Amino acid sequence: MQIYNSKRIGIIIVYDYISTVPILKIAKLGHPALVKKTNEIKNLNDIDLKQIIYDMSETMLDANGIGLAAPQVHLTHRLFIYRNPDLEEEEKIQISVLINPLIEKITDEKEDDWEGCLSIPGMSGLVRRFKKIKYSATDLNGNKISGEVEGLHARVIQHEFDHLNGILYTSRLVDKRAFGFSEEIEKYWKKKSEEDSK
Ligand code: NI
Repeated sequence: MQIYNSKRIGIIIVYDYISTVPILKIAKLGHPALVKKTNEIKNLNDIDLKQIIYDMSETMLDANGIGLAAPQVHLTHRLFIYRNPDLEEEEKIQISVLINPLIEKITDEKEDDWEGCLSIPGMSGLVRRFKKIKYSATDLNGNKISGEVEGLHARVIQHEFDHLNGILYTSRLVDKRAFGFSEEIEKYWKKKSEEDSK
């Protein structure tokens, strides 16, 4: 694995460039790993956390994802990583790590948007999520962290958090029909919802 100019800022690992570490196998819909119970990480030193995070990061980037939870790579730890949409800059990928996370809605307000999942490749579904949430977790250094987020950031966290409880977005669809191959969704659904909102 090569990391150039990598530095850690709080919960964020900044990679200017990463390459060549083993890519982990991603469990696909139907694999029991995705619905297995995850375990709280009681002692961060019990596992090679840094290696896990690096491997997961590389796997997520290779698969073109914006989030990846431990069960998706056959691990039972309560942690996930995601590309923080509020911190991304051009040519700089910012990956956040949440260990033993807890989330809570801030208001009852929800919003619908299309989601995909690396465990359900090629498919998209319309999912209703809380618009604003607060989260608390432990970071890679063992520090307690928390925050309030909304929009895409809140959506990614809710999606990944669900993975830790064996829940996939397909069980949270707004409408059973609003699910299918991304190509078809693009053609028939997204246009329709754009027209409807006009
Ligand atoms: Ni997913």
